[in-house]
Amino acid sequence: MREEQGDKAAAGPARGEAGMNPRLGEILEAAARTVVYDGAEGPQVSYGGELHVGVDLGTAYTVLVVLDEAMVPIAGAYRFSQVVRDGVVLDYMGAIKTVKELKAQVEARLGRPLESAATAYPPGVALAEVRATGYVLQGAGLECSRLVDEATAASTLLQVGSGVVVDVGGGTTKLAVIEEGEVVYTADEPTGGTHFTLVVSGAMGIPFMEAEALKTNAAEQARLFPAVKPVMEKVATIVSRHVAPFRPARIYLCGGSARFPGMARVIEEATGIPTCIPGEPLFVTPIGIAMSNFAGETAPLR
Ligand SMILES: Nc1ncnc2c1ncn2[C@@H]1O[C@H](COP(=O)(O)OP(=O)(O)OP(=O)(O)O)[C@@H](O)[C@H]1O
Ligand SMILES: [Mg+2]
Repeated sequence: MREEQGDKAAAGPARGEAGMNPRLGEILEAAARTVVYDGAEGPQVSYGGELHVGVDLGTAYTVLVVLDEAMVPIAGAYRFSQVVRDGVVLDYMGAIKTVKELKAQVEARLGRPLESAATAYPPGVALAEVRATGYVLQGAGLECSRLVDEATAASTLLQVGSGVVVDVGGGTTKLAVIEEGEVVYTADEPTGGTHFTLVVSGAMGIPFMEAEALKTNAAEQARLFPAVKPVMEKVATIVSRHVAPFRPARIYLCGGSARFPGMARVIEEATGIPTCIPGEPLFVTPIGIAMSNFAGETAPLR
């Protein structure tokens, strides 16, 4: 599990705290073990039961995750791929190729084919774009069983009783306000990890991909913190603006950008709302998407 250097705000609620999924720790630890980076050898799995499959076409990472019937991750793969921007599929053929390849890697580990999956879109994107994500699945040989919004998917896993779930991804910040266990408001704004990387690129005078590698290198993050802090504060401003009418008691951070040490503390200080990262944040939304997949369902794409 990830260490949050100097990020005590992130220690957040203890595992199993009332008002959250009591199995969250177990589920996120299973994801960290079984969802591997593109081409890495993950554990072989012998499992013949019901599967729940989620595909998250991200701005930075495309993730395919497979859950067993108890909704625990058993296999998955992810890859850096810039096929989507702000929920819009920019590189349709590239997206299909990526999903096909991730699917093949995971099928080899499971020793069985994947037939259907759920996928997701950022809250508020146009219907035509939402459908395009479904077509990507079809192009990759997967029935699209359901289309869910990403912030709601994250809250499906976290099972927060009340508060705001904030997914800071590569391209955008998505949020879902939860009251009495129900999503009452969602939003999506274009600030995310790509902006952190652009700031690092500018500050260090290096190309984007070099800056991306530097930003995600734990040994470099303390020295980069002053450069990225204003982007974290921008995320906090976005959250404050959207959640003000709801006065949530807590922010639950997820998405890959929440991995940057200090993120929870900056968001907490800038919003004045207690903020936590309830475990490895990268797979929260993809797992929530997979939890929405049930074989036999078909999403209406027309
Ligand atoms: N260890 C790390 N430290 C800091 N940032 C990280 C780390 N690991 C990943 N990231 C960042 O997380 C972002 C990707 O997160 P995520 O997979 O949640 O986004 P996405 O789903 O691809 O994007 P979006 O949801 O906006 O479409 C990238 O910007 C990446 O650089
Ligand atoms: Mg995402």
